[in-house]
Amino acid sequence: MTRTITLTIDGQTVTVPQGTTILDAAAQIGIDIPVICYHPHLTANGLCRICSVDVGWRVQAAACVTECAEGMEVHTQTDSVRRGRRTILELLASTVNLDEAPEILALMEAYQADPERLAFGARRHTPIYDDNPFYLRDYNQCINCWRCVQVCADDAQFAYALSFDGRGFHTTIGTFMGDGMLDTTCVFCGQCVGVCPTGALKPKREALLEQGMNPDEIFFATRMRKGARSRE
Ligand code: SF4
Ligand code: FES
Repeated sequence: MTRTITLTIDGQTVTVPQGTTILDAAAQIGIDIPVICYHPHLTANGLCRICSVDVGWRVQAAACVTECAEGMEVHTQTDSVRRGRRTILELLASTVNLDEAPEILALMEAYQADPERLAFGARRHTPIYDDNPFYLRDYNQCINCWRCVQVCADDAQFAYALSFDGRGFHTTIGTFMGDGMLDTTCVFCGQCVGVCPTGALKPKREALLEQGMNPDEIFFATRMRKGARSRE
């Protein structure tokens, strides 16, 4: 028989099967905890910490990876929790371009985050990788959520074309030895593009439409690129 755990979240009592995360337990009673790196179909890694909640520990707990414990008292909207979320959002805004990240922009509004508060901080500057006919990679918009890496690896595709590159502040997503996508194990399934929350990965056709090309021009342009490589 599955063991159950009883805890309170924002004063509401909830009983869940052992192993349930705080995020899922909260959802069960209608309490919405914000997420960014978490995706329901991917392995949670607790990277962005926007889901942090107060469980009475010395530090806040990431709700997407922390399992409920018997008698736990969880608070999801204290001043310090909200301040922490606001600061995470402001740090993201100071580092990367969030213009095409509507869910994060909505959180910034909800938490009254000021995108200019840390404007003196260093911004990420990387080239835009346009190295295949299917999608662009603009890591100036990447928050290192790891979703694309997960979906390309054990969570779905088992292609392992993507991984981390660089160290510390300069950490980005990259390919083995920095190879262009056509020279990696990528099978161009598009799943990385589908799970990217920020527009860092964008379908090539969408990008060209935004640049004003019509569908015929796009078809020709992307075919030319494939042909160019085959002549190398
Ligand atoms: S490219 Fe997109 S999915 Fe991949 S880590 Fe960056 S933001 Fe996340
Ligand atoms: S959503 Fe939980 S750490 Fe990112």
